[in-house]
Amino acid sequence: MRFDGRIALVTGASGGIGRATMARLAREGARVIGVDLDAQALAAAMPEGARHMAQVCDVADEAQVQDCLAAVIERYGRLDALSNNAGVLCHTAPITEIDSDDWARVLGVNLIGIGHFLKHAGRIMAEQRAGAIVNTASVAGIRSGAGGNIYSASKAGVISLTQTAACDLGGYGVRVNAVCPGLVETGMTQEVFDHARAIGKEDRLGYRCELRRYGRPEEIAAAIAFLASDDASYITGQALPVDGGNTASLNLPGMKI
Ligand SMILES: NC(=O)c1ccc[n+]([C@@H]2O[C@H](COP(=O)([O-])OP(=O)(O)OC[C@H]3O[C@@H](n4cnc5c(N)ncnc54)[C@H](O)[C@@H]3O)[C@@H](O)[C@H]2O)c1
Repeated sequence: MRFDGRIALVTGASGGIGRATMARLAREGARVIGVDLDAQALAAAMPEGARHMAQVCDVADEAQVQDCLAAVIERYGRLDALSNNAGVLCHTAPITEIDSDDWARVLGVNLIGIGHFLKHAGRIMAEQRAGAIVNTASVAGIRSGAGGNIYSASKAGVISLTQTAACDLGGYGVRVNAVCPGLVETGMTQEVFDHARAIGKEDRLGYRCELRRYGRPEEIAAAIAFLASDDASYITGQALPVDGGNTASLNLPGMKI
């Protein structure tokens, strides 16, 4: 019950990792605000109970983010934890072939959207002199090969923003960290999983990780909850891979037993 009586907001709440994160925080006592684009999908993802709140909001739109946080403060009076988790994937293409329109779309959600919440939730938490923010980056922000040029650049940006925002907010007692998930089965990666199963290669999913398997949304949620909790009270500005050891290895082809 590390979040007993606490107020926690999760973006990308209708998706696989967001939903698991809301469930985890609610189970540990939090009153949870779920934020996503579609009211119906969000309602279906919300944990049971009238103490929680669903907020339809496009994280890429600063005015909507401000309105969302104003509604949170009006209802609960404070914000203790923020999981900045909304994200979109970008189809992969070589750097010589990328579609220029994709830059604005993907960076707008994955990086600038996190920036909007860091700005406005950061103000609230700085005033409270307490708060914990966990951004969802990706192994794609650490190494190439997991999402293509634009997606990887957006996630590397999230890791950098985690460090710079942690420096700005640390003096106010506000912590900012990131998780870097490896491959997890969610709406975002469903096509990859469906394809592998269709061609009988499910056992190849995640086999390059040191744990020889892909991750579950609950395993990412557990790491987010840890970093958002007082158990991580002396950790800030860090990006934690939650990837079955994927980024720990050079993973040279042919070297795996
Ligand atoms: N699934 C993986 O393997 C994996 C690996 C590394 C990182 N991630 C990251 O984890 C996070 C969660 O993704 P997921 O895997 O649960 O995928 P998902 O597609 O199931 O969930 C993403 C959610 O973000 C929401 N969203 C998208 N744009 C939004 C916007 N502008 N405003 C508000 N909400 C918006 C979507 O509606 C969706 O519900 C993302 O940031 C993703 O990049 C996922």
